[in-house]
Amino acid sequence: MRPFLIAPSILSADFARLGDDVKAVLDAGSDVVHFDVMDNHYVPNLTIGPMVCTALRNYGITADIDVHLMVKPVDRIIPDFAKAGASIITFHPEASEHVDRTLQLIKESGCKAGLVLNPATPLHYLDHVMDKLDVILLMSVNPGFGGQSFIPHTLEKLRQVRALIDASGFDIRLEVDGGVKVDNIAEIAAAGADMFVAGSAIFSQADYKVVIDQMRAELAS
Ligand code: DX5
Ligand code: ZN
Repeated sequence: MRPFLIAPSILSADFARLGDDVKAVLDAGSDVVHFDVMDNHYVPNLTIGPMVCTALRNYGITADIDVHLMVKPVDRIIPDFAKAGASIITFHPEASEHVDRTLQLIKESGCKAGLVLNPATPLHYLDHVMDKLDVILLMSVNPGFGGQSFIPHTLEKLRQVRALIDASGFDIRLEVDGGVKVDNIAEIAAAGADMFVAGSAIFSQADYKVVIDQMRAELAS
């Protein structure tokens, strides 16, 4: 398995001073910026779009930006995010009419591509597209809000997806999103995840480095 990546979800950052907050969380030792895009249609919340991604790049953020699209339709926003500096774009298969085409669109736009599976979305969505995936993102909460509790059955799903990835031989990251905390990150890693989104657990703390260091210590244990 590849090195663990910690991806703070900026959904829980201070939007009034977003550039500084993103710099701070990266300086504190995190790896990737997780960028939650919600449309008040596919999910019942409304957040940020490509202009904010551009603004972060213009502000000097050079880390990978992991754009988690919770929007429907998906395709027409993909080129805008690629131009805005997205590194990875993931989407929910239920929100795309043609999953294979959407994956191709992301790749052709120069970004890494991934599918996101909700807690109740079956794994068969992965059939026939494993060769096109750089990331599989398992939601461990229902999408739409930060600060929810980790749904325990995600652990079994993680184990199943880890086995699928290993059997496939493809180089695919297994990302988990929702309710990841210091006290459950080791168990989540043991189930097979290698990329950890954490929003409220990090941004609720005064010192981001303390919590990120605690997460890394748990991952090393
Ligand atoms: C939920 C988002 C998550 C969320 C995670 O729809 O995709 O990225 O911000 O937040 P926490 O870590 O607070 O559960
Ligand atoms: Zn997310």
